[in-house]
Amino acid sequence: MHTQPKSFVRAIQGEVQARPCFWLMRQAGRYLPEYRATRATAKGFVDLCLRPDLATEITLQPIRRFGMDAAILFSDILMVPHGLGQKLDFLEGEGPKLDPIVDAAGVAALEKNLGGFLEKLGPVFETVDRVKAGLPLDTALIGFAGAPWTVATYMVEGGTSKDFAKVRMLACREPVLFEKLIEVLVEATTAYLVRQVEAGAEALQLFDTWAGILPEDEYRRWAIEPAKEIVADLRTRFPSVPIIYFPKGSGSLYAYAAAEVGADALGLDTAVPLDFAKGLQRQIAVQGNLDPIKLAVGGAQMEDAIRRILEALAGGPFVFNLGHGVIPQTPPENVARLAEIVRSWRHRKN
Ligand code: CP3
Repeated sequence: MHTQPKSFVRAIQGEVQARPCFWLMRQAGRYLPEYRATRATAKGFVDLCLRPDLATEITLQPIRRFGMDAAILFSDILMVPHGLGQKLDFLEGEGPKLDPIVDAAGVAALEKNLGGFLEKLGPVFETVDRVKAGLPLDTALIGFAGAPWTVATYMVEGGTSKDFAKVRMLACREPVLFEKLIEVLVEATTAYLVRQVEAGAEALQLFDTWAGILPEDEYRRWAIEPAKEIVADLRTRFPSVPIIYFPKGSGSLYAYAAAEVGADALGLDTAVPLDFAKGLQRQIAVQGNLDPIKLAVGGAQMEDAIRRILEALAGGPFVFNLGHGVIPQTPPENVARLAEIVRSWRHRKN
């Protein structure tokens, strides 16, 4: 059967649409009471990510309520280190904790596990398959992974960090070792995304949440180069599966990311000015960038911010999203209002 690609897929590929597509990073999560109820039935967050029945249910929850144009697989970027055998726990109220990678032996242990890595993450691919069967006709499924640099920050710091001193110092003092870690992550991440597409993912997003903390030379080396390798490999294998790169905090280096990575679309954080974003659209589709705080606050401030984004960007290649994930304090009614505004928008040609 040959069917036309879904609206969201075409939007990411650069088709300008009368009614912009939208989805929200962290659209499935703690702000939804039904997420909290499902989460309570799992042993922990890692268990939740590896239970296809629960992960499928959670992926579909925001789609049922708000009808986004795309669902994003419910999982986490830290499932790759977990698959590579690094000990991972999510402690209540504290975020992720990992046994930090500090030396060559740590990197070698990860490399040794590349062989059995995909089997360990098997339940994730089953979730992709199940979600596909449960989606409305024109709703696309986004697969994802963390970009190597961002995942490496958690692996070396042992969790979330304030100053990234450990990972930055390792990269500066032992670039050969750090390069090796990045290479292992490029290989694992590519294989992981390939399997997601084989299981049914129709678009992919690479989350590079901490790209923006790097100085320019290291930004090129540790963020852009590895992302570019992953994109090139996936592009060769799956020319029709579009890829979104989200290098949060890139500032003016967004222009460099647009030119270099080879992605179909760039995810923009809240700090990106709309006129700069409009300039990027001459080169690449953009996705973003409503402030998650505005979404949590709601009311006229939220509505004005949504309309300013639509006014500026919906006339070009664009997908509406936030500049970062939905925060747990967000009232679901605000998301419903956002959906209503975006869905009823019809772009006027100037
Ligand atoms: O977007 C989605 O709805 C899909 C699922 C998804 C999650 N995490 C679920 C999650 C995705 C795409 C991610 C990506 C992710 N995970 C990123 C990149 C994007 C970003 O937010 O910057 C990062 C850096 C992580 C790592 C991570 N996972 C952290 C630092 C934390 C703890 C902080 C927090 O928000 O709790 C998580 C946990 C996590 N991942 C939760 C969810 C729903 C909350 C876990 C819970 O229910 O207790």
